[in-house]
Amino acid sequence: MGSIRSKIAGLGYYVPETVVSNKELEKLMDTTDAWIQERTGIVERRYGTPHLETTTTIGARAAKNAIEMAGIQAEEIDFIIFATLSPDYYFPGCGVLLQRELKISGSQVGALDIRNQCSGFIYGLSIADQFIRTGQYKNILLVGAEMHSMGLDYTTRGRNVTVIFGDGAGAVVLQPTGEEEPGVINTVLHADGTYAEELAFINPGCHGGYHQQQTDLGYPEGGYGGLFLTQKMWEEQLIFPSMNGQLVFKTAIQKFPEVIGESLHNAGLSIGDVDMLIPHQANLRISQFVQKKLGLPDEKVWNNIQRYGNTTAASIPIALCEAFEAGAIRRNDLVCLAAFGSGFTWGAALMRWAI
Ligand code: UT7
Repeated sequence: MGSIRSKIAGLGYYVPETVVSNKELEKLMDTTDAWIQERTGIVERRYGTPHLETTTTIGARAAKNAIEMAGIQAEEIDFIIFATLSPDYYFPGCGVLLQRELKISGSQVGALDIRNQCSGFIYGLSIADQFIRTGQYKNILLVGAEMHSMGLDYTTRGRNVTVIFGDGAGAVVLQPTGEEEPGVINTVLHADGTYAEELAFINPGCHGGYHQQQTDLGYPEGGYGGLFLTQKMWEEQLIFPSMNGQLVFKTAIQKFPEVIGESLHNAGLSIGDVDMLIPHQANLRISQFVQKKLGLPDEKVWNNIQRYGNTTAASIPIALCEAFEAGAIRRNDLVCLAAFGSGFTWGAALMRWAI
């Protein structure tokens, strides 16, 4: 038997129905539609319905679409990979909740949670690809989903972060195929924790102030009593994501072209061979900068951040699915996925489209 590689056999996405425009955010904080559009390209985003939708349930909606397209039953899934930074619970992760939601028997499936934020989908794809290449699994469900809206600071203090993010979910089913058939060519992954706190959601956590020698976070004397969240954190609202936007922006526009180039180089290909680039939807200005740097025409780069904002682990599979449904990706096309974000972590994946 020849060697195997993985291919995307089905894909799907789901975005919550509620559309939140920039104008609506203007009512909550000191921001303007013009500022948001000029700096990020975002016009609107979706917010899930509290109590009715969670990261797992919207992930499940996307997953069902992907499973149906792959032409299999949910019970045939033998491994779940769930990428998110906004999980339903601190633990256990969304992987097992999705397994329960999809009613897949626990005796035949494993579930893994990925915590790599914006590059979570690329990391997940890389893991799935390795598992399929070794022959361990045959139908891997990879989901990227976020319910950011549940954990954002809707006051002016949080505006630089809050205006960017939106909720959504995307999923793919990966299956084995022959080495000569279209499928995943390679993945490259990188990480640099030097910048861990530059884009982070730090509290609640078990750090106890260690990393920043912050001893004044209000932990009770004589131990934490099982509390990760202190009264002081709550009172001073140290409980939201924070971002050094300019540093993230500057690093992103450097790392995107670098990692795309690395992936192409490893495959013996060049940028002229790429039919479609799907960059993680962090900021339209970042995507435009990367496109220009790589010299790609508009029809070879897919952006949808205008309508969904930054959906972190979900942004690539949502964009991939939309591009495919629009007929912008066809069988055998060379598709490049790339991401950069919190960690910092970044990566790229290169594939010949197999559907
Ligand atoms: O997917 C994860 C990766 N994340 C990213 O890739 C995000 C990368 N960074 C960015 O996209 C941009 O840095 C932002 C869009 C977040 C911010 O844009 P910026 O041009 O870098 O703005 P800034 O943070 O340097 O802030 C400039 C000014 C500040 O006011 P002052 O101090 O000059 O008076 C901010 O307070 O803009 C202000 N500002 C806002 N004003 C209106 C920040 N956010 C807002 C806002 N509305 N939403």
